Amino acid sequence: MYGYDVEGNMDFPPLTWEWVFPPFCGLKYMGKTLWWILVTYLSLFALSDGRELKLRHKWNHGYQYNHTLATILVEYASAVYLSDLTALFTWTCSRCSHLIKGFEIIELVVDVEHCLQAFVGVAEDPHAIIIAFRGTNALSLQNWIEDLYWKQHDIDYPGMDDARVHRGFYTAYHNTTIRPAILDAVARAKSFYGDIQIILTGHSMGGAMAAFCGLDLTVNLHEKDVQVMTFGQPRIGNVAFASLYSELIPKTIRVTHNHDMVPHLPPYYHYLPQKTYRHFPREVWLYNIGLGSLVYSVEKICDDSGEDPTCSRSVSGTSISDHLVYYGVDMGSDSPASCRIIMNPRIQSIEDTRGNLRFSRDPAAPLIKLNREIDNPINVD
Ligand SMILES: *[C@@H]1O[C@H](CO)[C@@H](O)[C@H](O)[C@H]1NC(C)=O
Ligand SMILES: *[C@@H]1O[C@H](CO)[C@@H](O)[C@H](O)[C@H]1NC(C)=O
Repeated sequence: MYGYDVEGNMDFPPLTWEWVFPPFCGLKYMGKTLWWILVTYLSLFALSDGRELKLRHKWNHGYQYNHTLATILVEYASAVYLSDLTALFTWTCSRCSHLIKGFEIIELVVDVEHCLQAFVGVAEDPHAIIIAFRGTNALSLQNWIEDLYWKQHDIDYPGMDDARVHRGFYTAYHNTTIRPAILDAVARAKSFYGDIQIILTGHSMGGAMAAFCGLDLTVNLHEKDVQVMTFGQPRIGNVAFASLYSELIPKTIRVTHNHDMVPHLPPYYHYLPQKTYRHFPREVWLYNIGLGSLVYSVEKICDDSGEDPTCSRSVSGTSISDHLVYYGVDMGSDSPASCRIIMNPRIQSIEDTRGNLRFSRDPAAPLIKLNREIDNPINVD
């Protein structure tokens, strides 16, 4: 757990900076703990001084990691997993509170055929259109992870000769009901709220979809202010794709956690640079240091190579449980059954011939009225 309260904004150079904060400390250990904190901070300041000068030019042009923003976005990436569509669409779900309450959801799309889910809405802080994508269902997670070991980048990214990507992730966004629903909702949001920034987020495969959607909005819809923050995202393309991506969407943060397996997949082979999958920057690696009662959570801002050997690549990707918690937030689905959905028939949805669902709201219509119309939900398997 992250038992700290800090000003979340990183105003200091983010490159290779390590940020250490103390957990709640028992009074018993106070003396020792304070000593530790002092030593740690002193050594970090000593460390950061030299690096600041060397990297300043990059840092000024770069996009800064914002801890507060990360703790907000992770809650959207968690909420989009929920199977109660009524509670999601009325923003009354169990994960729809805390830092993300007051979100104005305007579109919830469920591709039942492919077991995909995403929503679009507008938030006050950050004032932005937020788009969140769900990852793989918990029940199939193990199989899905095993499959990733063998995946080739097997499809050309359009408009870019050497860029190749993972067909499954690419088509999950481009070749399902998800894309048209999202583009339609973004247009609706923009006609009501004007030209505000767009932030995409997602966990696991949802992170991969967020990245493809971010590119789509930037390249095909000429959106100027697109940010992407993903959690526990797998690799999605080759080196040509990674450099194309990082040029087009520099405002990207790819958060990884401890020994989370998924960011290690599909594998990276540094001795096969042209053939291998490769991450785009910028990674922020969350990990713990310390012993026994003195464990510190660290957020390490990694280099701009995408494959910083001192970040998550410095450890083996052996953990599924690290995949399922980010910033102390549950990142799994709430329903053990695969792709189970719950909904209230009174909420108007559009269903296509293949059973895929869309719930759409006019951004001008108040959410309160919708909430009053809810009755008892029914279950649909
Ligand atoms: C970090 O994000 C929070 C939440 O959106 C925002 O209020 C704050 O101004 C941001 N800080 C910086 C330095 O951009
Ligand atoms: C997209 O879907 C259509 C029909 O479902 C299929 O024919 C086509 O090959 C798919 N495209 C890709 C790139 O998989």
